[in-house]
Amino acid sequence: ELGQYRHYMQKEIFEQPQALANTLEIIAGGGSVNPQLFGADASGVLNGVRQVLIIACGTSYHAGLVARYWLEAVARIPCTVEIASEYRYRDSVPDPDTLVVVISQSGETADTLAALKHAKAQGMGRTLAICNVPESAIVRESRLRFITRAGPEIGVASTKAFTTQLAALALLTLALAKIAGRLDADAESRALNGLRHLPVAVQKVLELEPEIEQWAQRFAAKHHALFLGRGRHWPIAMEGALKLKEISYIHAEAYAAGELKHGPLALVDKDMPVIAIAPADELLEKLKSNLQEVRARGGELYVFADAGSEIVESEGVHILHMPEHYGMLSPVLHVIPLQLLSYHAALVKGTDVDKPRNLAKSVTVE
Ligand code: F6R
Repeated sequence: ELGQYRHYMQKEIFEQPQALANTLEIIAGGGSVNPQLFGADASGVLNGVRQVLIIACGTSYHAGLVARYWLEAVARIPCTVEIASEYRYRDSVPDPDTLVVVISQSGETADTLAALKHAKAQGMGRTLAICNVPESAIVRESRLRFITRAGPEIGVASTKAFTTQLAALALLTLALAKIAGRLDADAESRALNGLRHLPVAVQKVLELEPEIEQWAQRFAAKHHALFLGRGRHWPIAMEGALKLKEISYIHAEAYAAGELKHGPLALVDKDMPVIAIAPADELLEKLKSNLQEVRARGGELYVFADAGSEIVESEGVHILHMPEHYGMLSPVLHVIPLQLLSYHAALVKGTDVDKPRNLAKSVTVE
């Protein structure tokens, strides 16, 4: 089953080009985005949606956080993202014109399912499940569905499910943008081309594994790490920190880089490695000044930079160059090296990569 791979997690990381290609097969042959991607009666449910509420747990929650940036920037629809276990017990204000999107790899996560039922009980009938398991409870409870085609995910740490969720959320963004009249034919065809090219782009990033393996050697000895990102890459920093914690047991925290001087900078010294997600986007200059603050305190920097970021390697500043800047979909590429980093750090530490201590693949109890 494992073939050339040592662990399911590694296999699943490397299956991502295929998982994405399968998930995006519906747009492979050209054409356009249409609401029917989400179910036969999708037009009725999606028309008139005034805001989006995304509910999920863990890694799936991080996918939702990325989508918020897309939905607001591209479709111009206000979006909030909530942790399921918080939403279900919170006295929130229901709005029938809100599209409730639940994201779950397994489709059986107890809190996410309960949060979905809670939303429905409050009269929020516009529901969509983004899920990797077609017959799951969460899919059955939802009016619309998009089934990611990642294939079975066996490693406890979610990898290919996450990137395929992002692909699904990008399609949802385009569909809602189109319904809102905010996507002209040109923009649509550019966006679809970006999606179609994703598997190839991910494949190129996977080729960075040997360099990341070297970084992991140094990482494995650390007790703490700080992940920084901005904008749509802040959730990617969060996902990187979660991966590192759960499989290599290294304490990691993620911060929006602009928050650094509001507290966490006090932690930075030579023993605190700082991982920065540095895509060549409109926030790069802001991020660079945050990185200088880290260097000034002696913190060692590990920077995932796009070609064109113009960040130079120097003492205490290690750079890994991503093949290209990928615009809106860049978070899909930037999470890959972080998955590999945590995987290789775990290998060095000798932890049980596919079954980390204290964790279950599917959390069906509260
Ligand atoms: C982390 C991880 C978990 C899950 C979370 C939600 O690597 O796998 O955080 O993402 O338990 O699970 P699903 O997506 O099945 O609802």
